[in-house]
Amino acid sequence: MKRCLVTGAGGFIGHHLVTYLKGLGYWIRGVDIKRPEFSVSDANEFELLDLRRWENCLRATQDIDAVYALAADMGGMGYLSSNHARVLRNNALINLHTLDAARENGVRRYLFSSSACVYPESTQTETDSAPLKEVDAYPAAPQDGYGWEKLIAERALGYFSEEFGIETRIVRFHNIYGPLGTFDGGREKAPAALCRKVAMACNGGSVEVWGDGLQTRSFCYIDDCIEGLQRVMQSDHPGPLNLGSEEAITINGLAKLVIEISGKKGITLENVDGPQGVRGRNSDNALLRDVLRWEPSTLLKDGLVPTYRWIESMVRNG
Ligand SMILES: NC(=O)c1ccc[n+]([C@@H]2O[C@H](COP(=O)([O-])OP(=O)(O)OC[C@H]3O[C@@H](n4cnc5c(N)ncnc54)[C@H](O)[C@@H]3O)[C@@H](O)[C@H]2O)c1
Repeated sequence: MKRCLVTGAGGFIGHHLVTYLKGLGYWIRGVDIKRPEFSVSDANEFELLDLRRWENCLRATQDIDAVYALAADMGGMGYLSSNHARVLRNNALINLHTLDAARENGVRRYLFSSSACVYPESTQTETDSAPLKEVDAYPAAPQDGYGWEKLIAERALGYFSEEFGIETRIVRFHNIYGPLGTFDGGREKAPAALCRKVAMACNGGSVEVWGDGLQTRSFCYIDDCIEGLQRVMQSDHPGPLNLGSEEAITINGLAKLVIEISGKKGITLENVDGPQGVRGRNSDNALLRDVLRWEPSTLLKDGLVPTYRWIESMVRNG
């Protein structure tokens, strides 16, 4: 597998993945509707293409052995919970056109980036809800437009594998964070938003947290995510695998960790109304461990240090 396509290569995970794969000696084509915001891409070729359009997907997948399909209209809770139609339309078009163009161009292996949002909300109603296993996605009741679009794409990969012979890999990410991710503008996720708020706060000030802050999540550091992606791609497991950390924390707990890392004194939390998503979500990595003999290992308190430092420097410089 020498020639790889990374879609969403101008985004957070895609940009890191291009750098990693290039380091492993692969030839990389990066495709996105925008270039990376904070750094230059290492891709051999970087094409600005709108992957909602079939002809652009044909061009993107030409002469490619393996696809890492990461492109998506994407954001944190605030964005996803107020743009269901837009997100479902854009991503359903991207997902089906990219997959079908890959088939048409004879791509051998195709990895799709799915999400923990495919799991039913009914299994995540308590702060200590059981960690989510891959099988828990059915009976299906995913989280809104974003979750449905991801689940339908997962099904499409299964059918394409059975009927057209394309080799498939599917990862379900659980809250990936790290440097070079979106940290403002409305699409940022909780770790980046809290790092930005703390970086902007003064000693003795306060930081807003959406909801009562007792909702729980787990967060996976970007280096683990990228290594996991490549390990999944190299594995022989065609179905969905969780890719996340099993270290659950409340959102208030996450905010307190960031404050501690900042070294600022006397900052208090102000819990305000805002979209919270499900009440409690964590990853069950049993299947991932079984398939890969590996799992993400960066502790949240360690991964947040470079993340906070990077966001703090971005806030300071303007
Ligand atoms: N970051 C997470 O915690 C997380 C969690 C679950 C799933 N995911 C999935 O992982 C993938 C990558 O996420 P990310 O965090 O890097 O998000 P991101 O928003 O940083 O990257 C996605 C990229 O897709 C591009 N894109 C959007 N519409 C496009 C179009 N029409 N044509 C071409 N490119 C387009 C965007 O410009 C962006 O650069 C996405 O599929 C996302 O749904 C991420």
